[in-house]
Amino acid sequence: MSNIGSYEERRKSFDWKEAERELGYPENGNHNIAWYCVDRHCEKGRGGKTALIWEGHAGEEKRFTFDDLRLHTNAFAARFRELGVEPGERICLFMDKIPELYFSFLGGLKMGGIVQPLFSAFGEDSLITRLEDAETRAIVTTKKHVRKVRRILDRLPHLQHILVVDADGFALKDRETAFDYEKAPPVETFPAHAVTPESPSVLHYTSGTTGKPKGALHVHGSLVSQYITTKWVLDLQDDDIYWCTADPGWVTGTSYGIIGPWSNGCTQLVLDSGFGSARWYEFMQKHRATVWYSAPTAIRLLMRDGTELVQKHDLSSLRHLASVGEPLNAEAVVWSKEAFGKEFHDTYWQTETGCMVLCNYPGLPVKPGSMGKPFPGIEAGVVDPKNHEPVKQGTVGLIALRPGWPSMFRAYWNNEKTYNEKFQNGWYICGDRASIDEDGYYWFVGRDDDVINTGGHLVGPFEIESALIEHEAVAESAAVGKPDKVNMEVVKAFVALKPGFEPNDDTELSIMNFIRKKLSPLAMPQEIEFVPSLPKTRSGKILRRMLRAKEWGEEIGDTSTLEDD
Ligand code: PRX
Repeated sequence: MSNIGSYEERRKSFDWKEAERELGYPENGNHNIAWYCVDRHCEKGRGGKTALIWEGHAGEEKRFTFDDLRLHTNAFAARFRELGVEPGERICLFMDKIPELYFSFLGGLKMGGIVQPLFSAFGEDSLITRLEDAETRAIVTTKKHVRKVRRILDRLPHLQHILVVDADGFALKDRETAFDYEKAPPVETFPAHAVTPESPSVLHYTSGTTGKPKGALHVHGSLVSQYITTKWVLDLQDDDIYWCTADPGWVTGTSYGIIGPWSNGCTQLVLDSGFGSARWYEFMQKHRATVWYSAPTAIRLLMRDGTELVQKHDLSSLRHLASVGEPLNAEAVVWSKEAFGKEFHDTYWQTETGCMVLCNYPGLPVKPGSMGKPFPGIEAGVVDPKNHEPVKQGTVGLIALRPGWPSMFRAYWNNEKTYNEKFQNGWYICGDRASIDEDGYYWFVGRDDDVINTGGHLVGPFEIESALIEHEAVAESAAVGKPDKVNMEVVKAFVALKPGFEPNDDTELSIMNFIRKKLSPLAMPQEIEFVPSLPKTRSGKILRRMLRAKEWGEEIGDTSTLEDD
């Protein structure tokens, strides 16, 4: 029997209070996420249960019980406090998927800090925009990544503490301190900082079409949504071995790679290694994974490597599969049934929503290619882009949600105006286009802006364009998404060169590498088209949408209507 049982029944009788009751929320008046993910299990006699099975890229393995998690998160919390980090100050986590990432995330929350996880492949520019905006006070990192921080340090007066977690034999510099949780004296008790459901918890940066990346601010009360969606959609049960493939630099890796599974007291797997079909199958076979949450790009890559490779492994432990981040094509759902005997269940949500909002559920028939139905307790709709009134069934409009579920973001950091613009006619507007069919299933059509979704990761064209013009050869540029079989979209840049520079392979390579280093490998254009000049509106704005339409073979239409876009 699945946790959710009947979707329709749950929808009828839903009350968030029920999730709170299950969590015993707020036990002793405490709302701190870290306490629910860790200490609560220990206090209830479940401290000996395995919380984390971690494997590094060379195959080394580490295991941690909930009691270990308690001690290690205490150690990080105490260290942050010793350094003078105050509750409410931002603590950035900037490292690969090593155990310290998970300990410092919960340790930061435990002492009342706002944790700001950033993807470890980010380059200097990506890093500085986010650290500057958040006025981040401390950063936790490793030898491998600290060099990037050193190069921008003089521009970050607020960044007072750099914790290097593997500093053995490493010469530390200005503002750096070593912290090794294995060598630090054990901290037996660290009472979780008292917070309310509205106290800020996690700050996740996400990209928009214009302007700098926006910091979506979450609160401790988000736990309620993350707990119950994990339980009902991912169907996590006490004996499950769960694997979420996402990096905590992105929201999936925190909502469903930390908070959701651990608040459910579940054992989870982490693999700190890049993608490889055989490697992934071996990992799941070795640890007898039962529930697997991944993304369409990975599924398409697995599909490319064929069913035979799947059959060489014993994946009979798998009982439930789910996916998020980009459209999950119908073929991938059909293939997964053939390859694993199970369908991937698509889920739709955003950094801003904090939890899954449209989902396919255990027990509810999957319509391959559809994102499923609204989570019980969340009122969703598809609205007209002009008046934000619900459209007729089958008509394409904008996905909209009624505000009020516990994990909804509470602000864009320092950006009230953009936050307020997301709300129209009593709805939160997601910025994606979709339609609803006669059975109430949602079908994704596309984004309503120019943000590029590459392999499930959003990249802002403005960020890429701002970096491009810093290259010595670039006069002006536009970045758009172009279709890609595996990643759905990849970045393509249109570049007009300055006089004296040649549009050749060397220039192209030099620009690509420049972006990879400055921003990240994801933001690096896979193709650069050199053009004499870029199409513009009469007021001189680059017609990015026209370039994008060309890539997708879409009608450009009347460009005069794009004047004010
Ligand atoms: O465009 C939608 C796409 O990813 C966006 C949210 O990205 P982000 O905030 O980085 O969060 C990703 C993980 C929750 C959405 O606005 N997206 C997400 N899930 C789906 C999707 N597009 C189609 N189908 C999905 N299941």
